[in-house]
Amino acid sequence: MLPAMADCPQTSLVAVAGRSPERARRFADRFGCDAATMEGLLERADIDAVYISLPPSLHGEWAARALHAGKHVLVEKPIATTAAEARTVVELAADRDLVLRENFMFLHHPQHEAVAAMIAQGRLGELRAFRGAFCFPPLPEQDIRYVPELGGGALLDAGVYPLRAAAMLLGPGLRVAGATARVRRSDGLDLSGQALLVSPSGVLASVEFGFEHTYGSSYSLWGAGARVTVDRAFTPPAGYRPEVVLEEQDHVEKFTLPAADQLDRSLTGFAQAVAAGGAAASPGETRWRQDAVAMMELVDAVRTQAVRVTVDG
Ligand SMILES: NC(=O)c1ccc[n+]([C@@H]2O[C@H](COP(=O)([O-])OP(=O)(O)OC[C@H]3O[C@@H](n4cnc5c(N)ncnc54)[C@H](OP(=O)(O)O)[C@@H]3O)[C@@H](O)[C@H]2O)c1
Repeated sequence: MLPAMADCPQTSLVAVAGRSPERARRFADRFGCDAATMEGLLERADIDAVYISLPPSLHGEWAARALHAGKHVLVEKPIATTAAEARTVVELAADRDLVLRENFMFLHHPQHEAVAAMIAQGRLGELRAFRGAFCFPPLPEQDIRYVPELGGGALLDAGVYPLRAAAMLLGPGLRVAGATARVRRSDGLDLSGQALLVSPSGVLASVEFGFEHTYGSSYSLWGAGARVTVDRAFTPPAGYRPEVVLEEQDHVEKFTLPAADQLDRSLTGFAQAVAAGGAAASPGETRWRQDAVAMMELVDAVRTQAVRVTVDG
């Protein structure tokens, strides 16, 4: 994010903060900005907005602290670790008329608009099912994703992507019908999982997630008339030209779309929202906040309903 912030015409990077002053200084020097303590950064009058890339268990707390300090907030996904915590921070942003967005970069990639256009044009017919997956290989042992107290686990790290994609394409009101999880014997941390959902209009959705697989980041939407598949759904690199595949009974069409930098688009969209002002009142910003809470409600439901199998890991 820091190279993107340094390059973005709408943002200027003022300071970075961390727990260790030396580390923050080394980082700041690389990007030509100041180093600060986390508390000190929030006290600065020359900072309008903060980007929070802490481990998930610290997102809600530091987003709230930043909002109390009058800063707009771009917080990494997930916005919090529970729906209750998400609601608290979202209400705070609305009360203080500050922009609060969760940094789901994939939502900013135009490949999903191409899929939405196919749905709107009736190319898929009536929708029947959504399938989404985000899985990747194991990470280094000391990674924050393996620390339960820091909000680790596959659901909060990877599962949120296909859940959010299902909500993006099927709309609000998804309900969780069931879930499974492979949890580590030593501490119950979820290494992978699945969930079944149903939309208000009866579209069925299934999602898979985990960090004990080969890489996969895709979704498909299956209708009565055709199925569309997006293969690099969540992490397409900036230079990558996405392929969206439409399969009908006897006909397959491949659409190669222009490359897009979703990271830059997420950052620019946030900066534009800050510059526009009136965050709480704008329908677009209200939607960002509502969607963030709705996703955490799904996360809570998946967690509650998951049938757990204990594995060595
Ligand atoms: N949107 C995306 O595409 C995307 C991609 C990757 C990650 N993420 C999200 O970004 C967040 C951070 O992930 P990451 O992979 O960047 O993690 P990371 O490299 O481990 O960075 C987390 C940073 O938080 C700071 N920190 C503060 N308190 C900490 C604590 N108690 N324990 C450990 N670190 C602490 C550390 O900086 P100091 O040591 O300097 O304090 C650390 O460098 C997560 O929410 C993750 O889901 C999003």
